[in-house]
Amino acid sequence: MAKNNSMIRIVDELPDIKISKEPEDLLCYGFDASRIEGHARAVIWPRTTKDVVRVMQYAYQNEVPVVPRGAGTGMTGGAIPLNRAMVMSFEKMNKLVELDTNNLNVIVEPGLINGRLQRDLEHLGFFYPPDPASMNFCTIGGNVAENAGGPRALKYGVTKDYVMELEAVLPNGDVITTGVRTSKGVVGYDLARLLTGSEGTLAVITKIRLRILPLPEEVITLLAMFDNLEASGKTVSKIIGAKIMPRTLEFMDREAITAVERYKAVGMPKDVEALLLIELDGHPSAITKQAEKIAEICESLNADIKIAEDSSAREKLWEARRAISPALYNLYPEKINEDIVVPRDKIPEMLKGLRKLAEESGISIVNFGHAGDGNIHVNIMADKNDAEKYKKAKALVKDIFSMTLSLGGTISGEHGIGMTKAPYLSMELKKNEIDIMKGIKNLFDPKAILNPGKIFA
Ligand code: MLT
Ligand code: ZN
Repeated sequence: MAKNNSMIRIVDELPDIKISKEPEDLLCYGFDASRIEGHARAVIWPRTTKDVVRVMQYAYQNEVPVVPRGAGTGMTGGAIPLNRAMVMSFEKMNKLVELDTNNLNVIVEPGLINGRLQRDLEHLGFFYPPDPASMNFCTIGGNVAENAGGPRALKYGVTKDYVMELEAVLPNGDVITTGVRTSKGVVGYDLARLLTGSEGTLAVITKIRLRILPLPEEVITLLAMFDNLEASGKTVSKIIGAKIMPRTLEFMDREAITAVERYKAVGMPKDVEALLLIELDGHPSAITKQAEKIAEICESLNADIKIAEDSSAREKLWEARRAISPALYNLYPEKINEDIVVPRDKIPEMLKGLRKLAEESGISIVNFGHAGDGNIHVNIMADKNDAEKYKKAKALVKDIFSMTLSLGGTISGEHGIGMTKAPYLSMELKKNEIDIMKGIKNLFDPKAILNPGKIFA
């Protein structure tokens, strides 16, 4: 096979950095959880910030596009190599570098798996709250790039609320350290916040200082079972309205429950229209009282309540919850996965609207997600083999976004824009707002070599 010229040079110029252009690597690193397939020019595995600097200097001089990649669990195509980009995988930069228990923070490399950090900290009595459903596979670097959320965002916020300081390599190879290592800091623009959620389009993150918390004393997990979909939505606002802030308030509809039980039988209740998975944490006596109040609220809306008796029962429920997405992909590998957010008191209206769209179009729409945040993962179940139906399914996305925006919501709560939502960016943002963002992109990346083709259509 003829060698690509720029590849010959990168192998020659950076001989000590692991690089591959074997077809199996190009294939495996060419797609992500969005199931979109791109074509990588090569895959490179840096081990240090210095390696990243050298790769970016090379890429800048030779105008080679680069896509930083964590574990490829993103759902909007953020890690897809476009324009024959080189994929920079952070698998080899995966260490917990420092744990500062006096100042409650950790320094990690971007390739560290979220679940690994969670478990290591919990053994020592500490807690890192952001818990994306893919936490057992996804990396902290990917979480920062996407500003990932997760069920516990309701009480504890999302990744950006934990990022204190970032080391990052600019497209030209310069290194910046931005943010603070103190608990406060207001010196200049907050570039650490800007990089968090920038989807790998501005700089390559190489080190991350994260805030951590003491592990809560106790956890109570409740499962509320509803025979009416809208009642589950109303329960969400009633619980918050009663001044109770659970750490999770997760929702799944009948189809999501059926799909997950078929995929991973953990004994989820059958014959219910919706479930809420509610978890409280804190002082045992305080959360026991809150759990009683929640049970009262659920019962007033005709829901049955179950309490997880021990940690293994709790873990089973969470296993089922985290398996919803794979279970739905198992049914429809090309399903359209949306991630809208509405003010939480608008959830019943949004669910009603989604049901109407499904009935009118004859296309099944499965809903689950972080109801406490008003964040519903809307899954349009369609198969590309049925071209006409798939076209109709795609057209529903615009209707769903219009409905979301008319209720005061946003088109993405945690999955980002990437490739799949880029065509809809202007439904939510005005031209002058997009222009400011494009200006920022141009300032960081004048040669447009970093994760091209993302965010802006
Ligand atoms: C989840 O909450 O399960 C994830 O965000 C994944 C998804 O939306 O499919
Ligand atoms: Zn989610």
